Amino acid sequence: TCVAVVRDGKTIRSNIVSSQYDFHRRFGGVVPEVASRKHLEFLIPVLDEACSEAQVSLSDIDGIVATRGPGLSGSLLMGLCLAKTIAILYHKPFYAVNHLEGHLFASTLNHPELEPPFISLIVSGGHTELIIVRDWGRYESWGKTRDDAAGEVYDKISKYLNIGFPGGPLIDIRSRGGNPSRFHFRGGLEDDESPDFSFSGLKTAVTRTFQAFSEEEKHDEVLFRDLLASFQESVVRTLWKKTLRVVERTGYCTIALGGGVAANSYLRERFQAEGEQYHLRVFFPSRELCTDNAAMIGACGSFHLFRGERSSLATEPDSQLSLA
Ligand code: KG4
Ligand code: ZN
Repeated sequence: TCVAVVRDGKTIRSNIVSSQYDFHRRFGGVVPEVASRKHLEFLIPVLDEACSEAQVSLSDIDGIVATRGPGLSGSLLMGLCLAKTIAILYHKPFYAVNHLEGHLFASTLNHPELEPPFISLIVSGGHTELIIVRDWGRYESWGKTRDDAAGEVYDKISKYLNIGFPGGPLIDIRSRGGNPSRFHFRGGLEDDESPDFSFSGLKTAVTRTFQAFSEEEKHDEVLFRDLLASFQESVVRTLWKKTLRVVERTGYCTIALGGGVAANSYLRERFQAEGEQYHLRVFFPSRELCTDNAAMIGACGSFHLFRGERSSLATEPDSQLSLA
């Protein structure tokens, strides 16, 4: 549950994120019904906290935006209902934001110099997608995952290997110092001409490798670390190869990342290093702006409100909303 106050779409006055992970951990994943009930419980306190930290009242703000989709319908509904209610009560302009476009704007909060055209790689729990940003508001989808999203694979492998939930940040830590070349896993479609990704086979390969370990090996910390480091290597290598191909096709020299997996230490190091080697500019949001947050939605929504765009107060959630 996230609420932010953003000035001019550029400066964060407050950005409150109330994580629900503690409520979902025992189920090993997000339970949609639990998620919407918790949003209902936390939205008003989080809204109050965001306003008080920014030292504003609702009557001070110039506009209100909320995420329309993609995402879990019940969760989207909660945020939209609250935002539309505030818009009606306080006579404020309202805009319903595309979640993925929000991730595109996240980097601008840390790097105001980021301007289109550029290539964006969104890697999250629900998406793995390469997008050509011709201009703000003009997007072309280049390729996306055909099965699991990168974050989903982190979470599923983590669940299978009993590492915990959410898997991404835990694997990030547990893999540190591991040997990424110990096991050779291949990302699906890694060297294929297709612009798309495929990660479900990788998930199977990693879990099968673990299954084949002896009992002693299963408790070998170094081996386990190497397994995780090798898994990450294949994900990041695949993401980089596919991104580089879009660079070659478009001639664009700027890459901006977004989504929870963009918080990954190994991914950040590798993209930075490869970017330098190819003389490309690589932008990352700060880690807290990679994972879902309201500041990026505020930045994106402000852009649309400034252009005079408004959404109908009858806007409903769209769990499958696409960007292009
Ligand atoms: O963008 P996000 O917060 O939500 C979606 O829009 O999906 O991304 C959440 C995903 C989860 O799968 C989580 O495990 C992953 O991002 N994630 C990470 C890291 N932090 C979060 N994956 C790898 N390394 C991390 N440090
Ligand atoms: Zn997201």
